[in-house]
Amino acid sequence: MGGSGRTFGVEQLLADQPDDPMSAGRRLGGALAAVTGLGATVTFGAWVEARAFIVRRVEVPVLPAGQRELRVLHISDMHLMPYQHRKIDFLADLGGLRPDLVVSTGDHASSPEAIGPLVDALGPLLDVPGVFVFGSNDFAEPTFHNPASYLFRNSTPDKAGAELPWWELQAAFTSRGWADLDNQRARLEVAGRTIDLRGTGDAHAGLDDYSAVAGQPSSDADLTLGVTHAPYRRVLDAMVADGVDMVFAGHTHGGQICLPVNRAIIDNCDLPTSQASGLSSWTSEGRTAPLHVSAGIGTSPMAPIRLFCRPEATLLRLTARA
Ligand SMILES: [Fe+2]
Repeated sequence: MGGSGRTFGVEQLLADQPDDPMSAGRRLGGALAAVTGLGATVTFGAWVEARAFIVRRVEVPVLPAGQRELRVLHISDMHLMPYQHRKIDFLADLGGLRPDLVVSTGDHASSPEAIGPLVDALGPLLDVPGVFVFGSNDFAEPTFHNPASYLFRNSTPDKAGAELPWWELQAAFTSRGWADLDNQRARLEVAGRTIDLRGTGDAHAGLDDYSAVAGQPSSDADLTLGVTHAPYRRVLDAMVADGVDMVFAGHTHGGQICLPVNRAIIDNCDLPTSQASGLSSWTSEGRTAPLHVSAGIGTSPMAPIRLFCRPEATLLRLTARA
C-alpha cells in the first residue's frame, strides 16, 4: 500500500535507531543516572521513615459489658542497637501514655550492649504490669542479609549469629514483675481486673508449644489474652478455638517494605498479608477473636529501612462489649 503515514513495528524501530553511537551512549547513561537517582531517593526516604516513630491508637470492644476501659500498650520488634538514640528516646517517652498493661511481643535487642539501654528506656513501663515473649532475634545477633531478599521469600531463623544473653533481658523484665509467656501462662491483677494470659515461643523458629498452655479460659477471669511473637495460623487457631478474648502478635514488621499505603507484600509467616499489621480478627472452630499485629518499632540493623510502613507502638483502649 502506498501513503505517507508513519510505519510501526520492527521497521520503525530500526528507523529510530540513532546513527551516532555517542548519542545512544549518552541516552543510556542518562537513563541509568535517572534510575540510580530514583533508587537512591527511595532508599533515603525509607531510611528516614524507619526513624519516623508514631503511636497508633486503637479501640477494641472486648471487655465484659459494663466495665471501664483498660489501656494496653503493645510494643514489638525493637531490634535495638545501643547507638539508636532516637529509638531509645521514643521508648522512654512511652511511659507518658500511662498504660494499665504492657504487652511486648519480642525481638527486643540486637546486641548485648543494647540490653542495658533498652531496660533503662523502658524504665517507667517496667513498673506497670507487663508480659513478654521472645522472638528468634532475641537469641542470636543478626548477620548480613540482602535487605530486599525477604520481599521474595520468607526468612529463615538466623542460626549463624553469636548467641545473645537473652537470660539477662529475661531477668531484667521478670525482676520488675513482667511475666514471661514463652509457652507459659500468667495471671495479673490489672486496674482492678483479673487478666489471664497465655503465650507461646516463636513459631517462626519452631519454638511454640501451645500444649503447655492449652485449655479453656477460667470463669473467674475478667479477660483472657493470647500473646505470641509470630502470628502463625497454628498458634492463632489454637488460641482462638480455646476461647481467648484477644490475641497479640508481632514479627511481621507490617511488611516493612510495603506498597502505598501499608499494603504488605509479604509478612514473613503464613498469615494473610492483609492482616500483616493492625487490628483484624481471627476465626477458628466457630469462635472469633480480635487479633492485633504490631508493625513493630524497629528493623534488623542489617536492613534499617521501611517503606509505607512507619515504626509504631500501639495504645489499645479495651472497652466494654456492647
Ligand atoms: Fe522482628
